[in-house]
Amino acid sequence: MELRPATPDDIRAIARLHADSWRRNYRGAYSDEFLDGNVVADRLATWTERLVLTPPTSTCTIVAELDGVVIGFAHSVVDDDPRWGSLVDNLHVVHGSKRRGIGSRLMSATAEAVLAKTPCTALYLWVLKQNTAAQSFYEAIGGVRAGEKISKSPAGDTIEAFRYTWHDATMLALASPR
Ligand SMILES: CC(C)(COP(=O)(O)OP(=O)(O)OC[C@H]1O[C@@H](n2cnc3c(N)ncnc32)[C@H](O)[C@@H]1OP(=O)(O)O)[C@@H](O)C(=O)NCCC(=O)NCCS
Repeated sequence: MELRPATPDDIRAIARLHADSWRRNYRGAYSDEFLDGNVVADRLATWTERLVLTPPTSTCTIVAELDGVVIGFAHSVVDDDPRWGSLVDNLHVVHGSKRRGIGSRLMSATAEAVLAKTPCTALYLWVLKQNTAAQSFYEAIGGVRAGEKISKSPAGDTIEAFRYTWHDATMLALASPR
């Protein structure tokens, strides 16, 4: 498996993986109407904006690729918050490849890439309250729960999420791959 920065050539593969992962894992939080409807088009628009229009200095997008197929990705916004640091906005591994260390490697590579762009070592993210599997994952890799929020999903649904934080992402960056 190779980890590398995403390019505009990855837009379709990432958007499909993202939509499939939302459909499988966000049901109940995001409306069925959205998940069963235009979610691929929604993600294509988002990923086109991110990988074509956004200056790469302010974001990091890393893909995990196996035999030319994208099997995971992580997207981060550098220095998103003065207190909590850089935001890991999305992290998804293809359904059939979970629990093989890919998420851990993506988080490690994300920490490394973010730390190369900012002196701030803090990293944080939001995880849906219903997503207990992802919460277990973040706790397994050293994340600490710190607060919660109610906000709107991209489809306008009211959603509840916990904040997970890494005060010093250097430890994540140094974590050895399995
Ligand atoms: C959450 C996610 C990114 C984790 O990636 P992954 O590649 O499956 O995780 P890893 O294999 O690196 O897991 C590392 C450790 O985290 C913990 N962990 C991972 N998934 C877990 C689960 N479902 N339940 C309990 N612990 C889990 C385990 O301790 C695991 O180590 P182990 O397999 O040796 O026991 C992945 O499962 C995923 O894409 N989920 C769907 C999308 C999602 O929820 N994204 C997060 C949005 S905030």
